[in-house]
Amino acid sequence: KYAPVPEDKFSFGIWTVGWAAQDVFGSATRDAMAADRAVRKLAELGAYGVNFHDNDVFGFDDSEAERDAKVGAFRKALDETGLKVTTATTNLFSHPIFKDGGFTHNDRDVRRFAISKVMRNIDLAAELGAEIYVAWGGREGAEFGGSKDVQSAMARMKEAFDTLGDYVTEQGYDLRFAIEPKPNEPRGNILLPTLGHALAFINELERPELVGINPEIGHEEMAGLDFAAGIRQALWHGKLYHIDLNGQTGPRFDQDLRFGAGNVGGAFWVVDAVEEGIAKGQYTGPIHFDYKPPRVEDDNGVWVSAAACMRNYKILQAKVRAFRADPEVQEALAAARVAELATPTLAEGETWADLKDVKVDVEGLAAKGMAFEHLDQLALEHLYGVR
Ligand code: GCO
Ligand code: MN
Ligand code: MN
Ligand code: MN
Repeated sequence: KYAPVPEDKFSFGIWTVGWAAQDVFGSATRDAMAADRAVRKLAELGAYGVNFHDNDVFGFDDSEAERDAKVGAFRKALDETGLKVTTATTNLFSHPIFKDGGFTHNDRDVRRFAISKVMRNIDLAAELGAEIYVAWGGREGAEFGGSKDVQSAMARMKEAFDTLGDYVTEQGYDLRFAIEPKPNEPRGNILLPTLGHALAFINELERPELVGINPEIGHEEMAGLDFAAGIRQALWHGKLYHIDLNGQTGPRFDQDLRFGAGNVGGAFWVVDAVEEGIAKGQYTGPIHFDYKPPRVEDDNGVWVSAAACMRNYKILQAKVRAFRADPEVQEALAAARVAELATPTLAEGETWADLKDVKVDVEGLAAKGMAFEHLDQLALEHLYGVR
């Protein structure tokens, strides 16, 4: 019943299932995985597409011949399975050269190299048919107030996106960028820490239409924010270009749990928001998972967790649809006057002058309850599986 099919448009980062599970305190617990194996296994599980960093497919230090061979094997797996490359991105964080970032590194030569590395992988991304190019600036930031001139960093960040916007336009690539915000980790504080910061930044770019956001559940929840409300705002701006679904339990380190684990209630509203975006034609990207199979799992556990991301989405999708279709929910929504918010505050033709001396029933309105508890209890009962 909840088996994923390509029509669901589920996609995964190659680095998710491919993670060898090294962490800050310990070495890898699993073998490194070639990108073509990840592609074949994900296709078997019912996925539709993949996202990849350049260095998920070939090594930073690989020769041109090694690079070609690995890209060839990746491409062959894509061709044989029919899996799509929906999205691509650049690793500007693993190599020591990026220790202080890529686009906002204090050293100008590193910034020039970073933009060049992105352009090279954009060429591959375009060749493989990607439509979205993600930019996660995990190393763009600082631990201390004095070590980063934030205003100059913003100017350099803008310069990078403006240059890349010129590049894709002049190459004729049908590619848009999606900035992925994160508050911290691996840097003490990361620039563009939340989706709101990123949305404001995009307005300063020369080609803002080419740049949207790729928010990740865990990253917004690390900052204590409501992810579903955040992506609903991004939809309103027309800026939700991509999405990273995973699980997180409150503000702490980036857990990257499989989708549906962690904040379960949050996941229910995330699916409700994504489905709203799709229904309104505001979201056209894949249903993408960016998570990490925990370090305690072996290879079999990796595929169990990948399958669970898709299964959990479909389970929650069914629950969200049942919630929205439930007549008692519709009554509760009416009692809570939720639809009334869609009515403009001023009637047609009215101006501020019509509101200057508005008289309302102050006491009556103040005394009136909102009936939100009943509505939310119905949502919980759908989620708990008792309705
Ligand atoms: C994280 C991030 C990364 C990025 C990915 C794309 O967990 O901090 O999600 O996984 O999404 O590396 O560059
Ligand atoms: Mn994450
Ligand atoms: Mn991510
Ligand atoms: Mn991640």
